[in-house]
Amino acid sequence: MGNGIAQVAARAGYTVIMCDMKEEFLLRGMSAIDKSLQRDVDKQKLSADEKTEIIGRIESTTELETLNSASFVVEAVTEDLSVKTELFRALDRITPPAAVLASNTSSISITRLGATTNRSDKVIGMHFMNPVPVMKLVEVIRGIATSNETYEQVRGLAEKLGKTALDCNDSPGFVSNRVLLPMINEAIFVLYEGVATRESIDGIMKLGMNHPLGPLQLADFIGLDVCLAILNVLYDGFGDPKYRACPLLKRYVDAGWLGRKAGRGFYEY
Ligand code: CAA
Repeated sequence: MGNGIAQVAARAGYTVIMCDMKEEFLLRGMSAIDKSLQRDVDKQKLSADEKTEIIGRIESTTELETLNSASFVVEAVTEDLSVKTELFRALDRITPPAAVLASNTSSISITRLGATTNRSDKVIGMHFMNPVPVMKLVEVIRGIATSNETYEQVRGLAEKLGKTALDCNDSPGFVSNRVLLPMINEAIFVLYEGVATRESIDGIMKLGMNHPLGPLQLADFIGLDVCLAILNVLYDGFGDPKYRACPLLKRYVDAGWLGRKAGRGFYEY
């Protein structure tokens, strides 16, 4: 999602530093940005020159230290608490003390991430939805120590990016994934129990509820490893068996069938 966030920020006129671990990931990210902007050039919603300018505002780097000039950071690394806490410690050390450290986490506690830094008042959740250039929502999550000033800053930024910010307090899965993931998990149980085929399950939810994608297609789109990680956060966070991940989801993740990005999930790509 990092490249989508970089794209909307650059399109809104901001100078962006996109940082990743490997050059190949950055190249993939820049190519996704190019492709996504080209859609709008083809539709004459953007000129070729504007596209070049937007891309020109994005610097890519594998050196985290480059962020020493950043005034605002949006972290979008893998959904793993230890990876995120290690990164937040480093960001706290590298970035200017006034910089806001926002996380695009889909379920990990903002309060916990804030506590790993010396600026928990400036740590906040800024949860974008995929595909970032298209989806209007930014779910803004306030940790227990997040200041009103930080919240207002993030709300203003979301609006400048053309998004609608809706806020909630820090709680496992926030609002979006606390509601979405149990639906996806239930759809996987329905498949697991042989109640219906994947096509029927998705078709029923698309045609019957007007969802743009069925829950199994959506799970593939999100990534089955990410779905499992979010369900585990809900299960651990609430200690409630209703969030127990379906064994079929675990089996698919074990098999490496992680959805669209892996070429196979509930569907083949
Ligand atoms: N970049 C830029 N534009 C894109 C795009 C991209 N990656 N993908 C689609 N678009 C644009 C298309 O160009 C098109 O634009 P116009 O209306 O101007 O022509 C528009 O989006 C619709 O695209 P399509 O007609 O090609 O396809 P579609 O009608 O199937 O819509 C979709 C695509 C909007 C992505 C739709 O499939 C959808 O709404 N999917 C569900 C998305 C969703 O639920 N996201 C949330 C996932 S959960 C999450 O992200 C968070 C989490 O924590 C798990």
